[in-house]
Amino acid sequence: MTETAVRVPLIGEDAPRFEAETTQGMIKFPDDFHGKWVIFFSHPADFTPVCTTEFMTFASMQKEFQAMNCELLGLSIDSTFSHIAWLRTIREKVEFHGMKDVEVLFPVISDLSMEVARKYGMVHSEVSATQAVRAVFVIDPKGKIRALIYYPASAGRNLEEIKRLLIALQTADAHGVATPANWKPGEEVIVPPPGSCGAAKERMADKTVRSLDWFLSFKRLEEGQETAPRA
Ligand code: BEZ
Repeated sequence: MTETAVRVPLIGEDAPRFEAETTQGMIKFPDDFHGKWVIFFSHPADFTPVCTTEFMTFASMQKEFQAMNCELLGLSIDSTFSHIAWLRTIREKVEFHGMKDVEVLFPVISDLSMEVARKYGMVHSEVSATQAVRAVFVIDPKGKIRALIYYPASAGRNLEEIKRLLIALQTADAHGVATPANWKPGEEVIVPPPGSCGAAKERMADKTVRSLDWFLSFKRLEEGQETAPRA
């Protein structure tokens, strides 16, 4: 087994490359996902309660993510047989928040060697030497890391927030804007601040944006310009 140094990949870096066995066969990452956004997430272990609720929620939202050109990819330090058994149990026996008969169709990596988990800084040694924490990487269609979130085992992730983050990143890319605190699709976006005194003066005179000051201007996108329908 080759030991891989543990390091958290940072925003803006290329997503670390790997080949891995999954519940949907072998994958080459990021090559097999080129041209798509990917939500790549780890969970501590199969057959655990919080992870079960997360998996059912991820699976029930897979089509919504795919409609936004985004694939889901899971990982834990368990075998493929364990993954298969857990996913079958979820489908056959578990009902949660109105979800039942849930089939997990996205690939789940079996990372028994911990090679992938180490490349993505998913094992935090003060917590466990053999289980991943709850990491989420948002990776763009060019294979760049665009956002990362880390949660401990005790706190289940908010899938609506992960979806909101994806829409915010796609909206920023498509329109050269930023999104304010607690932004939701349909709300005003932030226009980047001007970079010169002249541009600041022009910004204050610009009636197509709503400026609170020269450096803080908002505008509304046309309906349908974000990637997801408004609430
Ligand atoms: C859980 O998913 O419930 C869990 C996983 C690992 C440690 C503690 C809880």
